[in-house]
This record gives sequence, structure tokens and C-alpha cells, in this order.
Amino acid sequence: MKELKSEELRALYLGFFKDHGHGVIPSASLIPENDPTVLFTTAGMHPLVPYLLGEKHPAGTRLTDVQKCVRTGDIDDVGDNSHCTFFEMLGNWSLGDYFKKEAIAWSYEFLTSEKYLGIPVEKLAVSVFEGDADAPRDEESASIWAACGIPTDKIFYLPKKNNWWGPAGITGPCGPDTEMFIDTGKPKCSENCSPACDCGKYLEIWNDVFMQYFKNAEGKFEPLKQKNVDTGMGLERTLCILTGKNSVYETDLFADARAKIESLTGKAYGESEEITKAFRIVLDHMRTATFILGDRKGVTPSNVDQGYVLRRLIRRAVRYGRQLDLPEGSLGEIASVYVEKYANVYPELVENKQKILEELAKEEQKFSRTLKSGLKEFERTVSRLQGTEIDGQTAFRLYDTFGFPVEITQELAKEKGLTVDIEGFKACFQQHQAKSAAGSEQHFKCGLADNQEATTRLHTATHLLHAALRKILSPDCAQRGSNITAERLRFDFNFGRPMTKEEITAVEAFVNEAIQAKVPVTMEEMTVEEAKAAGAIGLFESKYGDKVKVYTMGAYSKEICGGPHAENTGDLGTFVITKEQSSSSGVRRIKAELK
Ligand code: SER
Repeated sequence: MKELKSEELRALYLGFFKDHGHGVIPSASLIPENDPTVLFTTAGMHPLVPYLLGEKHPAGTRLTDVQKCVRTGDIDDVGDNSHCTFFEMLGNWSLGDYFKKEAIAWSYEFLTSEKYLGIPVEKLAVSVFEGDADAPRDEESASIWAACGIPTDKIFYLPKKNNWWGPAGITGPCGPDTEMFIDTGKPKCSENCSPACDCGKYLEIWNDVFMQYFKNAEGKFEPLKQKNVDTGMGLERTLCILTGKNSVYETDLFADARAKIESLTGKAYGESEEITKAFRIVLDHMRTATFILGDRKGVTPSNVDQGYVLRRLIRRAVRYGRQLDLPEGSLGEIASVYVEKYANVYPELVENKQKILEELAKEEQKFSRTLKSGLKEFERTVSRLQGTEIDGQTAFRLYDTFGFPVEITQELAKEKGLTVDIEGFKACFQQHQAKSAAGSEQHFKCGLADNQEATTRLHTATHLLHAALRKILSPDCAQRGSNITAERLRFDFNFGRPMTKEEITAVEAFVNEAIQAKVPVTMEEMTVEEAKAAGAIGLFESKYGDKVKVYTMGAYSKEICGGPHAENTGDLGTFVITKEQSSSSGVRRIKAELK
């Protein structure tokens, strides 16, 4: 096995798939565009869903990239060897192009060839789908693996629970997968020991998903128009396996930040279990916060949605930083180390460095002021507590007065063997008519492709709104964020003051005029340079020479975007702005509906 550094692994992977005819595309934003189901991009396939469903991708039918991902479901597990809330996923895709034979053969070659990862065949094990009422037993993948040279006793047939991936939401593209594992050589934990068990004998390294189904709202699996391949290899985990380290936190990705914390605190990573856990939490949360703040569609700490997750991460880092005696005001120093470490791969971090540092300093200051008194209040509550549950009102007071995200209160409680009355907390929250932090939960309730028609129409309306704002407010207004549910659109843009009533009415009138004009929505593919020359607006994220899609709505709007869109503006209904408010400093937020 090759001991690779992160930059070498990224380059090897992209180079391998480029050599096999894949277009190398840039990582999409961490903030999903037009996807109501999740707060963050959670997998490489996520930004590609429209293309897996049949939209044409400007870079072709074979793609590869390294995608920034955030998964916060396991935030409480961060501190152990392997959990991270941010990670990079190496991936390759076939959009109705190659299928099992090529995907598996290439995976095998990349893993075992001396030119690439050089993993000895004896160390590999794989799993394939055992079949059920929805899809057949995957004998085909098994025989391709066998032909590559994997012995049959290292090919495991496993059920849906283990060998099926997706959809990312409740509905969407999905399919059986075949997963690749390193056999660590540990003895089997039982006769039935397989990659399905977590005894540590098998470590997953890569996943090839054969996305050929669409799970619909009734939970049925319909065949997709095209057979796709979606693969994902976690960069951190693979580095860890290749270098034989115990933990992802010991890879080169974290080395500089770890050294920085050691010099700031005088403590050593690995000194004790408790210190190591605190190190890992600060290392992880600060890296994720740096990436969320530094994203091109980055958000700032707030009490809702992505901003709330960011707040939780920063405040939890502050709390664990205290355990390490991390001096107040040093979060920015840690973030700066990450900006430098990732500067060549994610230049947006460099571009947004000032914002990252300012926002971290602000949030740290805010929380530091109340953390100590909040902890005292918590201790007081515990000393008076009868029973084992902290009531909702106290949790709300800790939140409202001391800035404790309720999850931090839960964590503090857990450390003392106590629980928190979350329902009671939510009731207090609603009574105060604050926007619920649990708002983020709402995002998980509807499926990715649920109400797809409604979200598509709102997406088209978003383009018209964007154009209207530039015409009526200022040509400098540009999108800073967008989020669409089946009911409404939400659009963030830079503008330094609240809009007047007249401006709101004028923006609505512009959009409704475009709707009444019933103009067709047309799409053309062109290079970024051609798109700019044609006057298209939008995020010029792609590299020089890359093709992008430009959607045009008559003379009303021309914007770079992945789609999908309504066919004609006449399909949209009546556009109404329901809210205009501040989002963060210099950024306004509009919510609007189509009636
Ligand atoms: N979507 C699959 C995963 O996340 C493969 O990329 O594992």
C-alpha cells in the first residue's frame, strides 16, 4: 500500500478517471441549491441528482470530482477515531454511460495497481447485493469481481440494509451497490463475521452504486430512464487506511492544525483520552466551520438552518477548547491554518478568509461572554434537580439567556446521566414565537424529488427574482444563497439596507410581467467565457473552457444554472413576496411564493 498525502491521493484519483475519459468537474457548494431536503451537500452524487435523473451534463456522461461534504447527523460521535462532520468524497459517475463491468474493473485497478493505491489483492474483500423483492441478487457484480481475481470467499452477499445506497432524501435515485473493504487481518469475530459487522476486521474504502432505480413517494422502486454509476471514496478514511494510522485525525490533513492547538495550549494530542477527544472535537468542528463560512454560498451563524448548525459547531468547539485551556480568541488562528492547508484545492477559503476570521471572532466572543455563567446556571439546576430530567423551561433559559444550543445542554446532561425534556423546550420556544432551531428538522421531512414540479417552478421564479433585484435595486445585487421547498423560495442577496415597500412591489411587478408574457424558458450550453459575453449572470464557478448551461427567459433573465426549469414562464402562477428581512450583515433575504 502506498503511504499517500492528501494532495497525492486527490491527484491520483482524478488523473486515473480523467485518463478513462471522465470530465473533471469542480466541487459544488456545501450549501445545496434548490434542494429542500437537506441543509448541506452530503455526498458527491448530491449536486448531480438532476443529471442522474436524465438532464444532460455539460461535461459529458463520465464525470469525476472531489466533493466537499458535511454530515452532522453524527456530531455527537465526533471525538472517536473516525467521525468527522466535514469530509471530502472522491467520486466518479456514469450518467447512462458505462455500468458494472467498467466501474468494477476500474475500481479494482485503482485499488490494486502499483501505479495507484497498490493494495495487495489478499487484503481486499467486497460485498454485493443479495437481492430481494425490489431488485435481483447481484450475481453479475460478483462474477466481475471474481474475474478480477477476488477469491469467492471474499465476496459477501448482503441485504438492502448494507448493500443499497440512496435515495439521499425520501425519494430519488438509488440502487444496489458493491462495497470494497480492507481486510485488516484481524481474526473473524464469529463464524458469521462479514463486512456487515463492525468488529473492525473489515474497513470500508469505496462504494460503487448502480443507480438504476427511482424510489417514489409510495416507496416503490421504478426503473430509471438510464442506468448510472455513482461511486464514493472518503478521502480522510482512505488516507488513514493507506498510512496505517489509528485515526483520521492523524493524517496530514490535520497535522498543522493539531500542531497549532498544541502550541496554543501547551497540551499534547494523545496525552490522555479526554484530551484527545477534546482535540478531535476542536479540530473537526473548526475545519467544518471554516468550510461553511468560507463556501461561495457560505452562511454565518444564526438560529436557523445551516446557520444554526454552524453556531452549534463553533460553540461546541469553544466549550471543548476550554477543556484544553485554549486561549480566548484563538479560533481564528486554527481556521487560518486550515485556510492555508486547503488553499490550493479550495481557493474560496482564501477569498473568504477575512469573513471566516471575523465571523469566528464574533461568535466566539458572544458565546464566551455567557458560557461561564451558563455553566454555573446549569450546575445550579442540577444541584436542585429532583429526578433525572432537566425541564424544558430551564433548557430554554440556557438557550435564550446564555446562548446554549439545546444540543449542548443535552450533552452536558448526558455527561451527568441526565436527560432534557426536548418537547418542553420546543413548547417554550414556540411560545416565544422565535424561529425554531428545530426548523432544520423540517428539511428532512420531504423527499428530494417530492413535489418536484412545485420546486421546479419556484426555481424558475428565483431566476426572475434575481433579474428583478438587479434591475430595480442595483446591478451589483447577486445571489448569496437559495433554498427552495415545495411551498416557497428563499433567496439571499447582497444589499445594504431593507427594501422599501415600493421596491418590493416593483420587484413583484417585474416578475409577474415576465410570467404574464408567457415566454419560453430555453437552455443553451456554452463555455463560461461565452456565457459571460452573452451577459449571463450566476455563479461562475467552473474552470476556463468548461461548458455550462445558460437558461434564458426572453429579455427578462439569462442565468447560468444546472436546471431543471419550467418550460414556459406562463406556468408559474402569481409571484408574491411574503417576507423581506436581514439575513446577515450586508445580506438581505426574500421569501416568496407562487399562488
Ligand atoms: N453515494 C454513495 C455514498 O455516499 C457513493 O458515492 O457512499
